[in-house]
Amino acid sequence: MLPSLQSNHQSPRFGCSMNQLFFIAITFVSLLPSAQSGSIPVVKGNWQADFLQHSRRVVPAKRGPPAEWEGRIPLVVTNKCDATIWPGVATQAGTGPGTGGFELEPGKNKTLWVGSDWQGRVWGRTNCTVNGNSCACKTGDCFSKLDCVFSGAPPATLAEFNLAGGVSGMQTFYDISLVDGYNIPMGINSIPAKNTTYIPPNLTNCACIATSGWLYAKAPTGTFYANSSFPVPLEANETNKSVSSWCPWPNLAFPPTKPGDGVYSYPDDNVRRPPFSPCKSACAATNSDKDCCVGRFHNPNICKPSLYSKTVKAVCPDAYSFAFDDQKSTFIVPKGGGWEVVMCPAGRSTNILRQLGKELFELASGGRLSELSMKRLRNVTYIEEGRGAANGVRPLSTAATALVVSIVAAMLMP
Ligand SMILES: *[C@@H]1O[C@H](CO)[C@@H](O)[C@H](O)[C@H]1NC(C)=O
Ligand SMILES: *[C@@H]1O[C@H](CO)[C@@H](O)[C@H](O)[C@H]1NC(C)=O
Ligand SMILES: *[C@@H]1O[C@H](CO)[C@@H](O)[C@H](O)[C@H]1NC(C)=O
Ligand SMILES: *[C@@H]1O[C@H](CO)[C@@H](O)[C@H](O)[C@H]1NC(C)=O
Ligand SMILES: *[C@@H]1O[C@H](CO)[C@@H](O)[C@H](O)[C@H]1NC(C)=O
Ligand SMILES: *[C@@H]1O[C@H](CO)[C@@H](O)[C@H](O)[C@H]1NC(C)=O
Ligand SMILES: *[C@@H]1O[C@H](CO)[C@@H](O)[C@H](O)[C@H]1NC(C)=O
Ligand SMILES: *[C@@H]1O[C@H](CO)[C@@H](O)[C@H](O)[C@H]1NC(C)=O
Repeated sequence: MLPSLQSNHQSPRFGCSMNQLFFIAITFVSLLPSAQSGSIPVVKGNWQADFLQHSRRVVPAKRGPPAEWEGRIPLVVTNKCDATIWPGVATQAGTGPGTGGFELEPGKNKTLWVGSDWQGRVWGRTNCTVNGNSCACKTGDCFSKLDCVFSGAPPATLAEFNLAGGVSGMQTFYDISLVDGYNIPMGINSIPAKNTTYIPPNLTNCACIATSGWLYAKAPTGTFYANSSFPVPLEANETNKSVSSWCPWPNLAFPPTKPGDGVYSYPDDNVRRPPFSPCKSACAATNSDKDCCVGRFHNPNICKPSLYSKTVKAVCPDAYSFAFDDQKSTFIVPKGGGWEVVMCPAGRSTNILRQLGKELFELASGGRLSELSMKRLRNVTYIEEGRGAANGVRPLSTAATALVVSIVAAMLMP
């Protein structure tokens, strides 16, 4: 959930006359938690948390679109669903694409352009009734307007971006979020820029497919989202049957009618669900402080994943499942390239963050990939072998991360 990236942390800005060593020292010190606070949570395997914490403050939102000379970034929206989708686009910060939503027929795509400082989200609206500028939708609706300003109504699968993340705005943060529920399968593909072609697509191209009929059988080479030389780690367990019933019954947005209409108890999960079966998030379903992580629960140490979050992580390991899932669900890559949001990609959900976390960390912290990492990324055995929490990413200490972040920031300084 990228809105939470707007941390209070303000990184110092310097004139170009400062020498880089001094910059590193100052940034390092500024990023170190103060010694007195003592209670800074140690991020075990959650290397993303540090980067998110050090994210730059946001610039005000502009509708856009950006002019060509502004260094604009392509944002392609593709509809692979078998019905028309009305994508919605909301801009939280930076220069937006100049539109808040449009109609997109099956098999079609649309190229938008956003500023390199854009922060916002894209989602798919379904089953809309369009009448001039009005567009009333069953899911993802935004006040019945074709041109959305704010977010759509839950449940909706979201693609979230912060194109100017990190301490000096030199990284792109993105994620697929099910924090506002799930309506359709979604994938995010990188469109490499000249200076980011070295990043293998299997590190960046993620997908969440939790709708029966869209799920492919697992292919040994996992080439659904990358090319033949870079297999993608995929979720291994789901079947069309299991994926049709992942949503906990109380979270179903449109539950099928029950015989007896709930008057007598009925084994709910035996009722057949339609293939299009949007799922409300725990927060939207109960609206409780506990599930929404607000009030007393606005604390990552107190707000724990609900049953909904756990089922989301099983069916879509790379998706954001609840408000404090940042540390495990955000992709962080060097800035530069553009993005394609695919509505209803067919294939399987990806499992990149867990399986290739080490390589992603290397990319996020150093802006490059070593020979060893490139070799591992071609090794299907390595990609597929189990990587539990125990042998996952060895986190750097907070101090080491601060040092890495400040050195990278200095290197990238204009
Ligand atoms: C978008 O559609 C056009 C025309 O069908 C096609 O040539 C192009 O490759 C598509 N772009 C993407 C990113 O899929
Ligand atoms: C609503 O939209 C979804 C997704 O496009 C589609 O699968 C479903 O058939 C539609 N339902 C109705 C009742 O039109
Ligand atoms: C696969 O993608 C990588 C990175 O984009 C590229 O360098 C490589 O040539 C591609 N391989 C094939 C077989 O297309
Ligand atoms: C799921 O259903 C689709 C459409 O019927 C089919 O093409 C696909 O092979 C099935 N996937 C699995 C894993 O059985
Ligand atoms: C990732 O992509 C690279 C480059 O195409 C490939 O060599 C490697 O096998 C891929 N890794 C996995 C796990 O699929
Ligand atoms: C997949 O199934 C295996 C065997 O049942 C289980 O050990 C593993 O934890 C499951 N993986 C996930 C991601 O649920
Ligand atoms: C890649 O180039 C773009 C535009 O030319 C620039 O904005 C971006 O910062 C560069 N990325 C890196 C990692 O140097
Ligand atoms: C591929 O990865 C496996 C498991 O990590 C390892 O045992 C094997 O030596 C690797 N193969 C190559 C060619 O590096």
